[in-house]
Amino acid sequence: MICKESWLLVLYASQQGNAKAIAEDLHEECSSHNIAATLYCISQLEKDPSILLSHNCTIFIAATTGDGEPPDTARKFWRSLYKRNTTAIAHSSSENKPQSVTTLQPLINEEQQNITDNLNSSSSSASQSSTETDEQLADKKILESNLSINAKDLTISSDNSKEIATTKSSSRVKESLSISAKFCSSVFSDLSALRYTVLGLGDTNYTNFCNFGKDLDERLHNLGAERFYPCGWADDGTGLEIVIEPWMEGIWSAVGAQLAAKKPEKKRSQKESTDYSTGDDNLPHKDTNYLQILEQPKADKVAIELTNVNKVKKADFADHFKSDPSINDDRKPIKFDNNNSAQNFDNSTKNDTRKDSHNESIVNEDLIDGIKQLKLSSVSRETFAFTIDNVWRDNHALLQLGLPIETKLTIPRINTYGSIEVQFYDSEFDSKDNRNQYQNGVPLPSADTELINSKILEFISLSKCEVGKEVKNALEVVLELNKDCEFKYQPGDTIGVLVHNNAEEVSMVLDVLGVTQPDRCCQLSKSPTAKKAVPVHLAHCSSLRELFTWCIDFRCVPKKAVLLHLYDCTTDPHERRCLQELISREGAEFYRTKILEARLSFFDLLTVFVSCRPKLSALLEILPRLLPRSYSLTSSPLAEKHRISFVFNLVVIPSSSNIFKQRHGLCTGELNRIYQDYLLRSSITSPQLRVYLRTSKTFRLPVDPSKPIILVGPGTGVAPLVGFLRHRQLALKQGQLILEQLGESWLFFGCRYSGLDELFSREIEEFKASGVLRHLHVCYSRDPKSEVRYVQHLISAESASLSQAIVCDDARVYVCGDAAGMAKDVHNAFSYILAQKLKSSQEGLKFITQMQKDKTYLQDVWT
Ligand SMILES: Cc1cc2nc3c(=O)[nH]c(=O)nc-3n(C[C@H](O)[C@H](O)[C@H](O)COP(=O)(O)OP(=O)(O)OC[C@H]3O[C@@H](n4cnc5c(N)ncnc54)[C@H](O)[C@@H]3O)c2cc1C
Ligand SMILES: Cc1cc2nc3c(=O)[nH]c(=O)nc-3n(C[C@H](O)[C@H](O)[C@H](O)COP(=O)(O)O)c2cc1C
Repeated sequence: MICKESWLLVLYASQQGNAKAIAEDLHEECSSHNIAATLYCISQLEKDPSILLSHNCTIFIAATTGDGEPPDTARKFWRSLYKRNTTAIAHSSSENKPQSVTTLQPLINEEQQNITDNLNSSSSSASQSSTETDEQLADKKILESNLSINAKDLTISSDNSKEIATTKSSSRVKESLSISAKFCSSVFSDLSALRYTVLGLGDTNYTNFCNFGKDLDERLHNLGAERFYPCGWADDGTGLEIVIEPWMEGIWSAVGAQLAAKKPEKKRSQKESTDYSTGDDNLPHKDTNYLQILEQPKADKVAIELTNVNKVKKADFADHFKSDPSINDDRKPIKFDNNNSAQNFDNSTKNDTRKDSHNESIVNEDLIDGIKQLKLSSVSRETFAFTIDNVWRDNHALLQLGLPIETKLTIPRINTYGSIEVQFYDSEFDSKDNRNQYQNGVPLPSADTELINSKILEFISLSKCEVGKEVKNALEVVLELNKDCEFKYQPGDTIGVLVHNNAEEVSMVLDVLGVTQPDRCCQLSKSPTAKKAVPVHLAHCSSLRELFTWCIDFRCVPKKAVLLHLYDCTTDPHERRCLQELISREGAEFYRTKILEARLSFFDLLTVFVSCRPKLSALLEILPRLLPRSYSLTSSPLAEKHRISFVFNLVVIPSSSNIFKQRHGLCTGELNRIYQDYLLRSSITSPQLRVYLRTSKTFRLPVDPSKPIILVGPGTGVAPLVGFLRHRQLALKQGQLILEQLGESWLFFGCRYSGLDELFSREIEEFKASGVLRHLHVCYSRDPKSEVRYVQHLISAESASLSQAIVCDDARVYVCGDAAGMAKDVHNAFSYILAQKLKSSQEGLKFITQMQKDKTYLQDVWT
């Protein structure tokens, strides 16, 4: 029986969707533990802060984004929460208050400028207004102190800044002031009644691991709130599940204890009271959501041992092991032409094409050639997979696990997915309809503009090839934006580029799902018994091809929930055994090495587990949203306003024992395809890209150009740094800056080979010649002649001048590029040189940590 009152509050702060999906699963799980729970995005607190204290206990599921920052949806809440002790910050920063020093307008950080402008006007009105609340004053203080912290050297002429400030930005700040003022209600002044825990999501490839979750925990704790269960810090780099699974296991008894200990004052029904008043015995046991399974891989039947299962009936569970009737499918086979593009084949062709003699000959041919490519003229998915199979699949790392014949495994309870009903109509879907309402109009992550149509004007090749030398192919793309669009950007900003799945892969997935009419109009709706709504990014009226092309990410690394569903729909005993291992608690290491580290995608698994027939409605529910890719801008707004550029490297995912066929990254693969057409001049019309602006909150040139800057950007990491230097170069040319004003500047760049992948080398030399860049240091990781291989070594070699600039002259450090290895090594190198300067490694680390807090050590990194 589910209680009517909501006793548990689940709040999520998510940028890309992981935290949201986890929160939704946890919320759904609550009902099987008889816990009434409410699920909200953390931004709901903006509308109604009182919900925070109106529940018995609260679980925060909080991701970290950017450079250790809160997700966009949590920013306002975080600012309000942080405000509680800003008096001290405001005091300490008062010496650094913005001063009216003239500097050059276009180089001024616009956001800081607008905020300052707004503060100037609001502080003067503050002194006049007698009705202003303490909260509003406090709000100004935090904005002021934030400003002082983020831009200690804000050097704006107040007159100039007023001229430039836009009404839109001013109103944005006003809006944030008023919303923050609302937050300053008594709710957050005393959180001693709050019982909470935090499940933080992060990635140890970034230097500030789970920073937002950790800050949130610390802040709540300092405001008097009490942790009722230890926080969990889950690492996307090694697999979120490794932490989440044990954390989730324990949460139910902890929540149960909270509910039992502190019943809400609201009157409950008799039945509801008995559920919780009979003591701990009746509280959900921590193991209730686990089943223990004993399965013999070769047997048709499986023996199931159910232990400690209160909520799942044996019979229900055993049903999962019955063959899925859909396996005897009567789906239309798919025809692949020589170019591997798929189209519907004759309706009359009957199902099991596995033993098709044609396929056998292909298999043999493949065996002889050792080629793992599809060369079929007519295959269904089964033949598709089996063709790959004999050469490749049998050797597949997953199916070679060497699993023990009999093992006792603990696997999570199988969720029943499929709450979405799909109804088909007679007509074909006109895909143009959906393009205007991309992903149902759901906001895109960090979007600061609408979606903008742009033309690709030019590709500039930045690297050269040479036989025997492996060089990444880097291209600069020049875009012309639709002239009517509003696109106000600064160097340091990025764009989001819309991506779509590869047509051949879409056809294959739809075929596996038994979809015979992928282009038919279809309507998605929530089934009457469903707990979850249809995911918001899926248009309710579309076609399946459209949804699988534009909205669903099936190249994602499959989470356990997805594997569970695959397991549920797989018939082959060997495959089932393997999936069991992967989803079981005991198989955590297998999952880590064979799935996460091998970076296997959901799509790859369909080529391995060929007896698996996932259900369409389940996949619509559990596969994540296809997200745009980000690219740092290399252009400057001082050049042509509607012309922007960015750089990309083609991502090549090689075939391996895990991946049957080489493929490209989705976005870079598509860009590369357009480039190939461009080279052949085969396209008559200019190719289009749909993009949007993602404004950086912090990755900005210093407002005061005399501050030294240290730029570190190996590979494509150099992109935004080139944007900075181009911007300064143009400012010099346009007379907005004079050379003498510029402080010291360093660029540390790394590539593989001299003369081959030294991106922008000619232009960088020009920056140096003009004085925009003072010191250039380049290293070559694969050049035998090069003594220094990596940028961190160059940094260490420049220890004295760099540490002097940082410690004595308040230099800004900008690090951009690969988060996985480089960012950490560079961070260590700076800690090291600062330790040398300050004669203590502890002091060195403290100094760099403070720089990160002050946003003077800035990272724009990606994995
Ligand atoms: C703030 C920010 C700024 C960025 N700026 C730039 C930029 O300026 N230039 C730039 O080039 N990129 C940049 N990126 C990265 C960019 O957004 C994309 O992630 C990148 O271009 C790959 O996109 P894709 O769609 O081509 O590849 P995807 O389809 O996303 O494929 C990449 C994925 O493939 C998998 N993979 C890769 N190699 C292998 C392998 N060997 N085996 C198995 N799987 C593998 C990995 O899971 C990887 O995540 C930036 C990212 C961020 C977050
Ligand atoms: C652009 C970007 C920046 C990130 N920055 C950090 C970071 O600074 N620290 C960290 O621990 N994790 C960082 N992460 C990892 C995410 O927190 C992690 O992938 C998480 O699962 C994302 O959850 P979400 O999908 O709910 O946003 C970053 C991820 C991305 C894509």
